[in-house]
Amino acid sequence: MNKNISVIEGDGIGPEVIKQTIKVLNSIAKKYNHNFFYKKYFVGGVAIEKFGNPIPEKTIDACLKSDAILFGCVGDSKYDSYPRGKRPEDGLLKLRKKMNLFCNIRPVIVYSKINKSPIKKELLDGVNFVIYRELTGGIYFGEKGRSNNGNEAFDYCVYSKKEIQKIGEMAFKAAIKRKNKVTLVDKANVLETSRLWRETVKEIGLDYPNVYLDFMYIDNAAMQIILNPKNFDIILTDNMFGDILSDESSVITGSLGLLPSASIGENKSMFEPIHGSYPKAKNKNIANPLGSILSGSMMLDHFGMHKEKNLLEEAVKNSIESKICTTDIIDSDFSSTTEEVGDYIVKYIINQ
Ligand code: IPM
Ligand code: MN
Repeated sequence: MNKNISVIEGDGIGPEVIKQTIKVLNSIAKKYNHNFFYKKYFVGGVAIEKFGNPIPEKTIDACLKSDAILFGCVGDSKYDSYPRGKRPEDGLLKLRKKMNLFCNIRPVIVYSKINKSPIKKELLDGVNFVIYRELTGGIYFGEKGRSNNGNEAFDYCVYSKKEIQKIGEMAFKAAIKRKNKVTLVDKANVLETSRLWRETVKEIGLDYPNVYLDFMYIDNAAMQIILNPKNFDIILTDNMFGDILSDESSVITGSLGLLPSASIGENKSMFEPIHGSYPKAKNKNIANPLGSILSGSMMLDHFGMHKEKNLLEEAVKNSIESKICTTDIIDSDFSSTTEEVGDYIVKYIINQ
């Protein structure tokens, strides 16, 4: 297969983790006779420096034309005082919106007990759930602003039934291929948008009689994810709650650097680790590339390359079990560099 992939490295550790991902994807392409063509575009702080805009039109046009997008990460405290719409993060948000990437899928899998998770080991065995986070609506994208001479601020949270239906359907479809359970996380005891989520998701559930649907308030869910992570299969939730729960969930796996994601749209999709740009680690060759590499594996899956995806994931698993890990998941005395982790995975793939 031939695939045109837009690559957006972004800021901080973005270029380093993307470099490893491309290396690994190329080893897969070679083994299975695919051609992946990559073209780099800019979003985030780098785009602000180059073009004075966190996302130039050229990036959006190119992404809309490509088969998929590999995204690193964006952000730097240098831009904290920049106005709304001009910050690195705004580039990412605009890209998600313009490409209509409404469904963000964040798997939370404990690959190995070799990790620095502060959570008791017996709670970690067999944790495997997926967060379905709505990505183009809610409080992130509602009207925002200041009133009362700047002394009052507002961010509207708006959801339409249609937006909820689109991601809701995806969550149920995923559940029937897994453990047949959807947990809708909301704040329906307080928020009207949450009540619409409940009504709508209950309606969808009628078409999936074999899927057990339960409801959990966000505050309770934040606790249950740590107390009882094995109880979850699919967590379906809105943009903001999904953002928060996914960072929290990464603690179970041992590192924020391990979690990948796929942002699925009606036509296009983007693959991005859930972590930020971690500017302190930039150019130190210490960043964990696995969140990005596993996002690459979600891209393969999306292309229908299932054997390829399985091999890549086996390679990642093997790297962790062989203790070829960056310092976020293993003691620094025994740690490997970003490059070494990438090299190990490539070698594993080639030798299979
Ligand atoms: C994420 C990130 C982004 C978000 C930021 C960088 C805007 O935290 O993908 O989880 O809040 O969605
Ligand atoms: Mn986040």
